[in-house]
Amino acid sequence: MLGVKPLKNSSLPKQAQTVADGATEDIPEAIRDLPLVAVTSSGSSAKPGLFWKMLGLAVVAFCTALVINYQFGILAHRSDLPVAQTQIPLITPTPSPSVSLTPQPASSPTPAPTPTLPDNLLGHLPYQEAPEAELKSITADGGHRLRQATAEAYQEMEQAARSSGVILVPISAFRSVKDQETVFFEIKAQRGQVTTKRAQVSAPPGYSEHHTGYAIDIGDGNRPSTDLSVSFEETQAYQWLKDNAAFYSFELSFPKDNPQGVSYEPWHWRFVGDRHSLETFYQARNRKEN
Ligand code: DAL
Ligand code: ZN
Repeated sequence: MLGVKPLKNSSLPKQAQTVADGATEDIPEAIRDLPLVAVTSSGSSAKPGLFWKMLGLAVVAFCTALVINYQFGILAHRSDLPVAQTQIPLITPTPSPSVSLTPQPASSPTPAPTPTLPDNLLGHLPYQEAPEAELKSITADGGHRLRQATAEAYQEMEQAARSSGVILVPISAFRSVKDQETVFFEIKAQRGQVTTKRAQVSAPPGYSEHHTGYAIDIGDGNRPSTDLSVSFEETQAYQWLKDNAAFYSFELSFPKDNPQGVSYEPWHWRFVGDRHSLETFYQARNRKEN
């Protein structure tokens, strides 16, 4: 039976009384004699100091259990975190800014490498085809085209040569990669040339300066038999070009003993009169030398 008894110091044994006295020293005197209530299962009295201490400990233990339970409850729902992180005690349920709780897509696949032409093929360098829109005809029949600025420079040069009695004739200017396939493979087959021999006088498709719209093969209108031949160097046209082409920003692409190992072509000239043409040819050359 539960019993309620007023605690009176005088009713305790001597030893218990000493403890009780000590235990009540921190209780204000005004309330020391209030009827403190001790609850026991047997109805007997308990020491009031010990009771409050036990009660305090119980409250602290209860609160601690609540906090631990709360934190483990959060962690139990954070199965996406690495084990090491789930073991870090969290004070608040706010996720760490460095950890995204939203599902992340699987890492994106590495893009396939863009196929590029090798830097050098049989001594020839890779060139891009000039855009159609940038090409301008240099002959009345439209059969020969160059890039705009190159076309204007060539026509000016041709006019100047004519003023000196020299007839410059365009033989071949812009050539597409497809055109070059014919020039390289079909003529190679017609002549029965091995690849290395053909490459001494013709670039493989994708590797001709003629793709750029900056290059032109020039003949002498008075000596057509020398067209595309080393004998062109004996013509008035070649002599005039050698002395004057630089004034119109043209230069010989394949002089004797050129570093690319391409056969000497006194008829093949290229324009280097603007930034793009200059970069086109000299960056290509740097790639070869590096
Ligand atoms: N004849 C030069 C090398 C070309 O085919 O481009
Ligand atoms: Zn050429």
